Amino acid sequence: MRLSDVHGGARLALALVLTAACLSQARAQETNEQSIERRVDALLRQMTLEEKVGQLNLVSHGPPLRWEDISEGRAGALLNFNSAQDVARAQELVRQSRLKIPPLFGLDVLHGFRTQFPLPLGEAAAFSPRVSRLASEWAAKEAAYVGVNWTFAPMADLSRDSRWGRIVEGFGEDPYLGSVLTAARVEGFRKGGVAAATKHFAGYGAPQGGRDYDTTYIPRAEMYDTYLPPFRAAVEAGSASFMAAFNALNGEPSTANPWLLTDVLRKQWGFTGFVTSDWVGIGELINHGIAADGAEAARKAILAGVDMDMMGQLYIKHLPDEVRAGRVPESVIDESVRRVLRTKFRMGLFDRPSIDPTRTDAAFPTTESRQVAREVARETFVLLQNRGDVLPLPAGIRSIAVVGPLADAPHDQMGPHAARGHKEDSVTILEGIRRRAQGAGIAVRHAPACDLFCRNTEGLPAALDAVRQSDVAIAVFGEPQELSGEAASRAHLELNGRQIEVLEELAKTGKPIALVLMGGRPQVLGPVAERIPAILMAWYPGTEGGPAVADVLFGDVSPSGKLPLTWPRATGQLPLYYNRLPTGRPTKPDNRFTLQYIDEAITPLYPFGWGLSYTQFAYADAAIARRQLDQGQALEVSVSVKNVGSREGQEVVQLYTRDPVASRSRPLRELKAFEKIALKPGETKRVTLRVPVESLGFHLDDGTYLVEAGAIQVFVGGSSLAEQVGEAEIVRTFRIPPMERRAAASTSVAQ
Ligand code: BGC
Repeated sequence: MRLSDVHGGARLALALVLTAACLSQARAQETNEQSIERRVDALLRQMTLEEKVGQLNLVSHGPPLRWEDISEGRAGALLNFNSAQDVARAQELVRQSRLKIPPLFGLDVLHGFRTQFPLPLGEAAAFSPRVSRLASEWAAKEAAYVGVNWTFAPMADLSRDSRWGRIVEGFGEDPYLGSVLTAARVEGFRKGGVAAATKHFAGYGAPQGGRDYDTTYIPRAEMYDTYLPPFRAAVEAGSASFMAAFNALNGEPSTANPWLLTDVLRKQWGFTGFVTSDWVGIGELINHGIAADGAEAARKAILAGVDMDMMGQLYIKHLPDEVRAGRVPESVIDESVRRVLRTKFRMGLFDRPSIDPTRTDAAFPTTESRQVAREVARETFVLLQNRGDVLPLPAGIRSIAVVGPLADAPHDQMGPHAARGHKEDSVTILEGIRRRAQGAGIAVRHAPACDLFCRNTEGLPAALDAVRQSDVAIAVFGEPQELSGEAASRAHLELNGRQIEVLEELAKTGKPIALVLMGGRPQVLGPVAERIPAILMAWYPGTEGGPAVADVLFGDVSPSGKLPLTWPRATGQLPLYYNRLPTGRPTKPDNRFTLQYIDEAITPLYPFGWGLSYTQFAYADAAIARRQLDQGQALEVSVSVKNVGSREGQEVVQLYTRDPVASRSRPLRELKAFEKIALKPGETKRVTLRVPVESLGFHLDDGTYLVEAGAIQVFVGGSSLAEQVGEAEIVRTFRIPPMERRAAASTSVAQ
C-alpha cells in the first residue's frame, strides 16, 4: 500500500503509525550501545570506591584469592576457573554480593579447550581465515560449555625471530597475514561464545636476542607498519579487550605506556573495551625501574590506560588511597570501571543463566570435534621438500618403519598452552599410521631410536634394523613441547639433542625416508635437509594429529600449508624475514663487500609462503585490471592457476607488491592479498585479488598513512619468490590521518 492510496484522517493516522514505527526502529538501532551506557552509568552511581576498584581486580583460582573476595565485590574478573563447579560456586557467591555484577571467567584458550587443534603458528600455515575461524570457534564452544567466557587470545604479536619461544602462539612474521588471521580468530572466539583479550600490546614479539621478556626497540613508523596492524584488525573485528605486554618498548614499559594504551588504542583506533595487564605486569614496573613501589606502579599503569590488574593485587591495595590522596582522579577509575562494565553488558553476562555445575569437559572430544580437528590439522602441514617424490607413500609398499621419539608422544603433540587438553585423547602419529596401514595390509614397525630429548641413543640399532627391514621409513623428530612457548627462548635452534646424528645414521640405510617434523618454530636442520629427501612440517598437530598426518603421508589429502615465516639455515641468521628493506649493496655472490655472511648463505633454507603439494600448479595470463590508480580505487590482479599434476590439491595464490622508489626505503616485497583455492587435476581457476590503494603506502611516525605517487611492482605466485607480473602506477600522493585509517581490507574471488 502507498500513502497516496489512503484518504484524510486515515492517511494522517497511518502517517503517525509509520512515524512511530520509524522512531522505534531508530531507537532500536541506537539501543544496544545507548542502553548499555545507561545501565553502566546507573550501576556506577551505586558503587563505592572499593567496589569500583574491585571490578578492576583480576585474580586467579587459588591464592591469593579468598572466596569471600567474590561475595565482597573485590574480584571483578577471575582466571583459571576452568571447571563448571568452580564457575558455579563463584556465581553463587556473586549472587550474595551487594551489586551482583557477574565476573569474567578468563583462561588461556588458544588452540582448543579439551579437543586440541594445531598451535596458532601451525594454524597460520593453513593461510585460511576460514580455518582459523573454525578452530577458534570450536575452542570457544568447548570452553564456554563449562562457563569460561573470556580467553587470553589471540596473540597478535608478530615475530621475526624464532629464538623467541612464543612465536608458536602467533601467526608468524607477516603483518597482512597476521591481520587477517587475528581478525578471524577474534570472530571465531566470539561466535563460540567467548570474548577475546588480544595480546600482548605491543612489540612483545621482537625482544632483543629472541629472549622472552627482554626489551624491544621499534621505531614508531615501524610499529604502525609492521607490529600494530594485527592489533588494529582485532579492534575492527570487535575484540572485547586487550592485554598489555610485559616488555618495555623503546624504554617505556607497555604496561605504563600512554602512547600505546591511550593515544593509539583509544584515540586513534576508537577502542572502547578494556585493557588488562599481563600476569603481575603492573608489579613488574618496579623491576623495569619506573616505579619505586606498588602504589606508584598502580598509579602509572592506570593513568596510562591499563584498566585491570592481573594477579598483582596492586589496584585493590593502593588505588582507593591514591584517589583519596588526590594522586589519581576518581574520574580515571570511573572510566576504567565503565570500560569493564560496558564489556560485561556487551557480552550479555548480566542476562546469562548460571552455569550447570554438572557439566564437565569430559563431554569432549566428540566425534564432530575430532573430525574438525583432523580437517584443520591437515590444512596446516607444510611439505618443505620432497626429492624423488618419496611422498605420498607409494601404493604397493608392504611395510613401514616408524621411528623417532615424537611418533608416539601424545602429550607433546598437543603443544604448549593446551588448556584442558588430556594426552589420553590424543591419537599419536604412530597410531594414525597404524590405523591407516592396517586397512591397506601394510606392516608397521616402531622403534623410537632415542628418548624424547634425544640425548640417549641406545635405541638407535633397533631403529636401524626396523628401517632396513621395511620398504620405507617415517621419522618423527623435532621439538618436545617443553622447548616451545612462554619462557622457552632458545639460543640454539639446531634439532635438539643427538637428532641430527641419528637422522644421518637412518639416512645411511639408503631406504626412502620422510621426516615429519614437530615443533613450535623452524628448527635448524643442518645436514638433515641434504640427507633426508622429504620433510613435512607438522607443527604441534593436536588431538587428531595422528590421523591427519596419516591422511597426508598416504596421499589421501595433498599437503597445502605454506610457511607463515622464513625458515633459517642457521640460528645466526636471525632475525630473518622476507619483507626486509633493500640495502645499498645487494648480494652479489662474487663480491664480498655486498650483503652476505662469510660463513653461511644469505638466503633462508625455505622462504616465507613456501610449501609443496603432491601436484603442481601453473600460473598464467596474469592481468592488472587498471594500471593508473587513484585514491578510492583498488589494484586488481587476475591470474589463471591450473592444476597440471595428477592429484587434487590446494594452492595459496599470493600477491606481493613493492614500491621501488619512495621517499623512504620500502620492503623488497610485501604480501598484500592471498586466496586458497582447491583444484582437481587439469582444472583451472581464475583468481582475482583486489588491494585497496589505501594499503599501498606506509606510515609516518605520528601514524599518518602516506600513499605516494609512482610505480608499484606486482608479483603473483605460490610463495614469496613469486614472479613479477607487471606494474601499476599511483597517480597522486595522499595522506590518511591516523584516526581515519582502517585495517587493509584486500578481497579476492576465485572462479
Ligand atoms: C602470559 C599471558 C597469559 C597469562 C595468563 C602470562 O604469563 O604472558 O599470555 O595470558 O600468563 O595465563
